[in-house]
Amino acid sequence: MKRHLLAVLLLSGTMHTPGAGDKDAPYVVKDGRRVDAGTLEGWRTWRAMGCARCHGEEQDGAIPLVDRLQRLSKEQFRITVLNGRQDRGMPRFAGIKQVDQNIDNLYAYLKGRADGAIALGHLEKLE
Ligand code: HEC
Repeated sequence: MKRHLLAVLLLSGTMHTPGAGDKDAPYVVKDGRRVDAGTLEGWRTWRAMGCARCHGEEQDGAIPLVDRLQRLSKEQFRITVLNGRQDRGMPRFAGIKQVDQNIDNLYAYLKGRADGAIALGHLEKLE
């Protein structure tokens, strides 16, 4: 039941949320779970770096990235994640190879989450 409701919410999200299915979107997604190779790497990086420890498994923690990413530009995102805001508790990730290589992919994944286009949980590669 809960699962069904979620599927309905996700579907309507995909159809009505601005940004989702947008040709300028930095990700490609089908059915909420099958994503392009870059976005898949972004999701893997998110998990490997334990961003959820502070931002929540559903990106809805105390600093809810699902909301913030609707306002934060890609450039602001890059600067924040790479440099951190150490005085405020956001670590610096520059110099960590997986993050340096996947910063745009991380952005793509989180933007897809913020747009309501990418589902929570396990993702697969879109063939
Ligand atoms: C140790 C806890 C911690 C971890 C781990 C962490 N963050 Fe953060 N992050 C924070 C805090 C605290 C802030 C809020 C900083 C502030 O007040 O400006 C923040 C802010 C941000 C922002 C800016 C949000 C905004 O509205 O300006 C982004 C984007 C972000 N984090 C992404 C990430 C990503 C991606 C990762 C994993 C690579 C990550 N964070 C890991 C604690 C963390």
